[in-house]
Amino acid sequence: MIPRPTSEQFTGGSFALGPGARLAFDEGLGAVADRLRDAISLPLPPGDGGLRLAIDRSQPPEGYALSTAPHGVVLAGGSPAGVFYGAQTLRQLLFDGGEPPLGRIVDAPRFRWRGVMLDVARHFMPVPDVLRFIDLAAFHKLNVLHLHLTDDQGWRIEVPGWERLTEVGAWRSSTMLGARVHARYDGQPHGGYYTADDLRRIVAYAAERFVTVVPEVDMPGHLQAAVAAYPELGNGWSGPVRQSWGISTHVLNMSDRALSFCRDVLAHVCSIFPSELIGIGGDECPVDEWVGSPDLARLGLAGPSDVQPWFTARMASFLASLGRRVYGWDELLTRGAPPSAVIAAWRGPLPTTVAARAGYDVVACPDISCYLDYRQSDDPGEPTPVGTLLTLADVYAFDPIPPDLTATEAAHIQGAQANVWTEHMESPRRVDYMTYPRLCAFAEAVWSGPERDYPAFLERLEPHLRHLDTLGVNYRPLSGPRPGDARPGAPGNPRTLPDRLAELDEMTADLRLHQIRVRQI
Ligand code: ACM
Repeated sequence: MIPRPTSEQFTGGSFALGPGARLAFDEGLGAVADRLRDAISLPLPPGDGGLRLAIDRSQPPEGYALSTAPHGVVLAGGSPAGVFYGAQTLRQLLFDGGEPPLGRIVDAPRFRWRGVMLDVARHFMPVPDVLRFIDLAAFHKLNVLHLHLTDDQGWRIEVPGWERLTEVGAWRSSTMLGARVHARYDGQPHGGYYTADDLRRIVAYAAERFVTVVPEVDMPGHLQAAVAAYPELGNGWSGPVRQSWGISTHVLNMSDRALSFCRDVLAHVCSIFPSELIGIGGDECPVDEWVGSPDLARLGLAGPSDVQPWFTARMASFLASLGRRVYGWDELLTRGAPPSAVIAAWRGPLPTTVAARAGYDVVACPDISCYLDYRQSDDPGEPTPVGTLLTLADVYAFDPIPPDLTATEAAHIQGAQANVWTEHMESPRRVDYMTYPRLCAFAEAVWSGPERDYPAFLERLEPHLRHLDTLGVNYRPLSGPRPGDARPGAPGNPRTLPDRLAELDEMTADLRLHQIRVRQI
């Protein structure tokens, strides 16, 4: 089973949950029962004799006990979520005609934030594919989908009163093929966006699977698509939605109109997404365009590096007025994170430690362990090899809690997330290839205990991959890429780990300067 349960005790033999089996369930578990019926090939009509779903408040809220006796199976969860997770375990046991072994599985997650980020800005993903992505994540007992909705290369959410965001900002006329160093383009238009109804459908589908969708609208940088649609939001630049990867210098200005734009967007986002946390990005925001900006004198700001903290404070108090909290990348630690912010710590391992020590709640997603766009092997057949080498074994070895934290500091670590950046993932099939089976290993890192046994994981992975085959997942075979997985027209730019660590060192100089007391606003 993946992720590995907390404990298993088997007594020998199994219970045949056959076509005649019936399904009984406690009040409030009808929807979970429906999900189970959807997922397994048994009719399970209502009634006693076979499988019973129950609430048992002695289990942790997301925990469950799955007890199999000669006369039937009882799945008891601490809440409907716990029963749902037990049902995912049962799905795996029943796969391919399997039978639940007599005995007892007791299980509960290690972390409350078991996330995966999907970048639908670099490549748009149609709604049915997003739903499938959620279903697969939930099958692995993940419970957060961080949806990266906007970036320089595309704006993917329709916002009332700002029609050009989707008329203009959702489309680019060409897309870079491969890493930036090659400067190749495909010459093909690409785009798409979600209506409010699309997003509500995604939220509802996720909620039925106990997945919270945390939306992110990146600001005040990574915003070129919005400025392309509304040049008055920028700093004198006008031009198209970005076609190349990398970071745009075309960022937001601080006019009243730009601020009311951001508030309109966030209010609309809050009307769709019930998540307490709302992502405002905040990563990689160049200040070039703010040098000499009239906004500085008008707002009484000493220099361009004061702009983002000023802006973030305003967005944070706006979100607070709507009862929400900021979710943002770790650059916010030195660019104005309110104390209530939750930090997505991505620039290598250091920001997780710094954020936790400063008292911020933090979600660990160090790129060198959690960025699933990074290459899976050095096989020349890997599609668009970028980033550092991040093998299945590397992801499996990841521990969200850095070794040097005290227990009090570590308690700030809510969990972790794997980030699926889609610059080089032009289709849902490519997303599958880059995501699986590494997300299986990641699921163990966030659900199961801190012990690791890679050979034992691989043994459990083998039948799990057959299950993924049945679900139609285009995962990367353990033996390496198939000929059709290569993407020779989109060459990569692989990096070594020492080079990347040196680069991260430079990138996080701000954190080391502020290590003792992070600037809070
Ligand atoms: C990021 O990778 N820019 C968060």
